[in-house]
Amino acid sequence: RQDEREQFYRVNELAARFYRRVLLEDGAGEAGRRYLERRGVDAATSEAYRLGFAPDRWDGLAHFLQQQRVPLPLAEKLGIVRQREGGGYYDIFRNRLIFTIADPQGRPIGFGGRVLDDSLPKYINSPESPIYHKSEVLFGVDLARQAMRGEGAAIIVEGYFDHLALFQSGVKNVVATCGTALTPGHLKLLQRYAGRFYTLFDSDSAGKKATFRAMELFLGENVPASVIELTAGEDPDSYLRKEGADAFAGRLKGARPIFDYFFRDLVQRSDTGSVAGKVAVIDQLTPFLAKISNPVERDLYVREIARVLGVEERALLRKLGKGPVTAA
Ligand code: GTP
Ligand code: MN
Ligand code: MN
Ligand code: MN
Ligand code: MN
Repeated sequence: RQDEREQFYRVNELAARFYRRVLLEDGAGEAGRRYLERRGVDAATSEAYRLGFAPDRWDGLAHFLQQQRVPLPLAEKLGIVRQREGGGYYDIFRNRLIFTIADPQGRPIGFGGRVLDDSLPKYINSPESPIYHKSEVLFGVDLARQAMRGEGAAIIVEGYFDHLALFQSGVKNVVATCGTALTPGHLKLLQRYAGRFYTLFDSDSAGKKATFRAMELFLGENVPASVIELTAGEDPDSYLRKEGADAFAGRLKGARPIFDYFFRDLVQRSDTGSVAGKVAVIDQLTPFLAKISNPVERDLYVREIARVLGVEERALLRKLGKGPVTAA
């Protein structure tokens, strides 16, 4: 078993080296080099992330792995090549910029590949494999470990390029979900390094949805977290390019605790002029309010909610003390 795992790491390691060499030295990597230049990725960053390029042909990697005497069925289990109907193997990643996904120890466990133009799908990622489980893996943990420990906090972003842009600008306590929802498994992993969290998802409807889902997780597990908000339509990468690192530092400072964010958003979306509207808001807030373990913090929110909605604090407290306190 352990032996097989080591084999898988070795195959991915060879693949990572192949993609890397194509990006750095091969004529077939020229398009990738130009793409990185256009997106402002410098050589040191490219090196730290072990960026690579998958050539625009059917058997670049398959051929290389064969030369290295790698049993291709093993590589197929990793989702980097696939067997043809008539025998032989072809590459899964073709003509794409390659991100190497590593485990906390820096071992390559999967890959993400981005097209260089507007074609779809924009990204493809390695499928689940014996060494890659999406629900437990966050991109960039290996690079962020030290900084997360140092800061005691971790910033969670959506995408590969968001991670890279922040890292390059000096913000290093960052991990990326790569489009999947944040899971309890992710949180457990992060809690090995940090006790406080920031969500920094794209400022669009998908990002907002992701923020709320993450918020439920944090509130449910009673883990302190805040929301970093960006200008509408931006993601961390585009924001940094437009506004720069100082502006980002301001956004980080202005991050709002998730309950505060949740409350404001709920009030904004609701008809708080009517009794039914107020009751609905309070019904949605109380399960989460009940989970705030710091009594002072909870009390301050109770006061704030009472003030904004124009209800008696006593009524809120009574509701909090009674009834089932389960998350919605
Ligand atoms: P750029 O356009 O390169 O800046 O990408 P982005 O990171 O801003 O992309 P987006 O916000 O659309 O998506 C966030 C993350 O979700 C990406 O970094 C990927 O990890 C993942 N993702 C995006 N599109 C796809 C897709 O088509 N398929 C898969 N499997 N994942 C995707
Ligand atoms: Mn496993
Ligand atoms: Mn997005
Ligand atoms: Mn984005
Ligand atoms: Mn982007």
